[in-house]
Amino acid sequence: MSRRFESRPQTADTVQKSDPRRVLLGIGGGIAAYKGPELVRALTARGFEVRCALTAAALEFVAPLALQTMSGHGVRVALFDREEEGQIDHIRLADEADLVVVAPATADLLAKMAGGHADDLLTTLLLATRAPVLVAPAMNVNMWDHPATQANVELLRERGVSFVGPDAGYLACGWEGAGRMSDPAVIAERVEALLAPRTLAGETVLITAGGTREPLDPVRALTNRSSGKMGFAIAAAAARRGAEVVLVAGPTPLPTPDGVKRVDVETALEMHEAVATELASATVFVGAAAVADFRPERRAAHKIKKESLGGSAGDGSLELRLVPNPDILAEVGARSRAEGGARVVVGFAAESRDLRAAARRKLSQKQCDLVVANDISRAEAGFESDSNAVVFVWPDRDDEVLELAPKPAIAGELLDRIEALRRERRR
Ligand SMILES: Cc1cc2nc3c(=O)[nH]c(=O)nc-3n(C[C@H](O)[C@H](O)[C@H](O)COP(=O)(O)O)c2cc1C
Repeated sequence: MSRRFESRPQTADTVQKSDPRRVLLGIGGGIAAYKGPELVRALTARGFEVRCALTAAALEFVAPLALQTMSGHGVRVALFDREEEGQIDHIRLADEADLVVVAPATADLLAKMAGGHADDLLTTLLLATRAPVLVAPAMNVNMWDHPATQANVELLRERGVSFVGPDAGYLACGWEGAGRMSDPAVIAERVEALLAPRTLAGETVLITAGGTREPLDPVRALTNRSSGKMGFAIAAAAARRGAEVVLVAGPTPLPTPDGVKRVDVETALEMHEAVATELASATVFVGAAAVADFRPERRAAHKIKKESLGGSAGDGSLELRLVPNPDILAEVGARSRAEGGARVVVGFAAESRDLRAAARRKLSQKQCDLVVANDISRAEAGFESDSNAVVFVWPDRDDEVLELAPKPAIAGELLDRIEALRRERRR
């Protein structure tokens, strides 16, 4: 059976294809069309194959050659073009898309979509496709607020069209308000989310991320170099797969991933308390945070002054007495075992030597199902880095060594393993 006659899903929530990676990008005639090449780049960087279809008005704002170069495919504009239609006909373009993104979507395009018009290539594609549609509107704030536009948006939402943005801010037209097209990176993230198989639907994943900060006085603290990037990547990927995600985060400027409930904490004690509160509903726990093992016994109410330090030897030195913090992972492991062991518990081990031996000790001492070991002595992996090289250390099977890869890719590998464990447990 040829692909064009397959029954295709209509809404994003029902998409379950194994590897849906073909995106049709429709570009309308708004000023934000100049971001088209950047959006193509953001999509191709995520592994999507992108085809572009422009309205005639869009040609005023973006060069087709830039889109063609970035996407690696010819760009289509005209419906009645014998040459273009001969190469890839418009219905095939509509059929082959796994998802259609309209960015920017003009007020005019929203009206045409709502009205079912098909008087140029893009509107015809939008009517012909059975793929889910994501729309990123961009226009003057008064055009956006107009009852006609709002009614069109409402109607399109009811039909299952997804929206991203518009964001509020200064607009190219000089007005301020809602009307800016969302960032290409944000649009690409939504595309990924809409196409991800929802294999973690029904699961609640509790993740800790980042370092903790243990105050000495109101200005100083003991902390570590964990950026939180690994834990945030796991949270984003789990949410894309349909899980309820709670992310307990130490201090980090990272933005909250879409669809994730974030609980900000500073100290290990606060993280401990947040985890204790959230754990009951969690079917999966991932401890990716670098929790301080110790904290200063006392926190000075006021800034410690150099002049006030006599030091035990009278030499101006300062002695710190540290006391142990609770071991969050060990407690979660023990509690999960006591409750029957249905919850999957994953720990992270960041080591600069004897990596696997340390990870194996952690695995048994903390009663984890899996420990992800990362060698922080490698410059291109571990703390602060965008990539990681890890070893999955299991209680009952051989270690799995993963090559250096971006943290989102490692997150995906980890979630594949977690899903398999949860399937076994549910049986
Ligand atoms: C300089 C300029 C900028 C424009 N920017 C927008 C815009 O951001 N959003 C929008 O909805 N329309 C905008 N328009 C109006 C559209 O170009 C116009 O409605 C056109 O018919 C849209 O065609 P299309 O929907 O087929 O792309 C702009 C027009 C001009 C002249």
